[in-house]
Amino acid sequence: MTVLSVVQATYVVAGVLFILSLAGLSKQESARRGNVLGMVGMALALVATVALALQTSERPWQVTGALILVVLLAGAAVGTWRVRSVEMTQMPELIALLHSFVGLAAVLVGFGSFLTTDHAETVHLVEVFLGVLIGAVTFTGSIVANLKLAARIRSAPLMLPGRNWLNLAMLVVAAGLLVWFVGAARDGQDGAALTALVLVTLVSLALGWHLVASIGGGDMPVVVSMLNSYSGWAAAAAGFMLGNDLLIITGALVGSSGAILSYLMCQAMNRSFVSVILGGFGAEPGTAATGDVEGEHRETFAADVAEQLTHARSVIIVPGYGMAVAKAQYPVADLTEKLRSRGVQVRFGIHPVAGRLPGHMNVLLAEAKVPYDVMLGMDEINDDLPDTDLVLVIGANDTVNPAAQEDPGSPIAGMPVLEVWKAHDVVVFKRSMATGYAGVQNPLFFRENTAMLFGDAKEQVDRIIQAL
Ligand code: TAP
Repeated sequence: MTVLSVVQATYVVAGVLFILSLAGLSKQESARRGNVLGMVGMALALVATVALALQTSERPWQVTGALILVVLLAGAAVGTWRVRSVEMTQMPELIALLHSFVGLAAVLVGFGSFLTTDHAETVHLVEVFLGVLIGAVTFTGSIVANLKLAARIRSAPLMLPGRNWLNLAMLVVAAGLLVWFVGAARDGQDGAALTALVLVTLVSLALGWHLVASIGGGDMPVVVSMLNSYSGWAAAAAGFMLGNDLLIITGALVGSSGAILSYLMCQAMNRSFVSVILGGFGAEPGTAATGDVEGEHRETFAADVAEQLTHARSVIIVPGYGMAVAKAQYPVADLTEKLRSRGVQVRFGIHPVAGRLPGHMNVLLAEAKVPYDVMLGMDEINDDLPDTDLVLVIGANDTVNPAAQEDPGSPIAGMPVLEVWKAHDVVVFKRSMATGYAGVQNPLFFRENTAMLFGDAKEQVDRIIQAL
């Protein structure tokens, strides 16, 4: 048995483990197992790839081995430090940054492949060109997503005049450059081909930046999963260039699962998939955060909410990004247990884009040991809200905003929301009257049956537990 055949067999096993991993990640109960399978698959893939590199290297294996070791240790050290220091609330921006690395890697592999291989095969040249294009779009797109998610740049959409034509023009230029690149490379004009490759890199960097900058804050969930998909295709393109089957399989799995997730996100948010992947194509220019809702709000206090809870028979808790910021999931779990032990029906209403990551709230609540059967999706719980005594909105804002249904000019218009205002009473836990991620004021706060409980969500839930 040669090293090559062992490596190929290991790649097949790793590929199967990745598929099983994705299957596991599709349900909360099996997500942990899915993660473990993915990690085992990746470890096998790494060992096999290193073995292959040592076997096929033209340099002495000790030199290649030392180079790989240095790169592995450096990558592992940076990765370990970053993951240990990141707050759970910063995960989305970290993921966006990691996507940008995949894009950058595809660009570098493309240039490396062009400079070190012969240019006889048109298919290979097209692979190089597309790998660089997708990689560069993913790179800058992910950086903009990172900056928007970290609130370092404004999350409102950039509305350049003629922005759709601008995107189209960049794609047409890229198509022209492809023809030039392939023709020049096949004719042995390496300098001209390299110029075309550099130019398409610049155009694609601009395209990636513009595509993501044009998408509004409320649509960022779709962008994150879309960039996840792009990073998969960029990795698959790198796999073609390197002739590495496992990288092609892994890239295609990430690319297609990211595309499915983007599609589901679009459905959940009532957005057009095509519009979002084309950088907000068709979105009305001028839809900006209005923020001009006016009215009187009513303030309440922890002791009063505790009193309300002692009379309630059915309670729905709607968590949002603020629960993650406050790390309130643990006292929320304690409160749930306490109420349930007193015979109160307590359930959670979870919006598909609550928080900053797909499944963000489910992960936090599962970590705090809230039973899965009381966590219900928006569609499962919306009809029950009118028969509910009390809704506790804990750090959610955009996902419970009636403006999505009532104000057609709102940036979040059309997005399905949890209709908490239909319950008998609503208490909103937040620190101020500030807007949510999409920058839109929330008329819920001024409704007659809504009371505001100001302060850090964790501290307030702790106080309620004490008062109970
Ligand atoms: P948001 O609309 O982001 O609002 C969160 C609220 O939490 C804020 O209004 C904030 O008000 C409050 N808050 C912050 N820290 C708090 C603390 N320590 N204690 C109490 N309250 C606190 O939340 P949401 O309803 O979960 O909506 C999510 C938004 O993020 C949507 O617009 C969604 O499109 C977007 N987004 C989602 C994702 C994914 S995949 N889920 C990805 C990117 C973007 P104060 O400042 O007044 O306290």
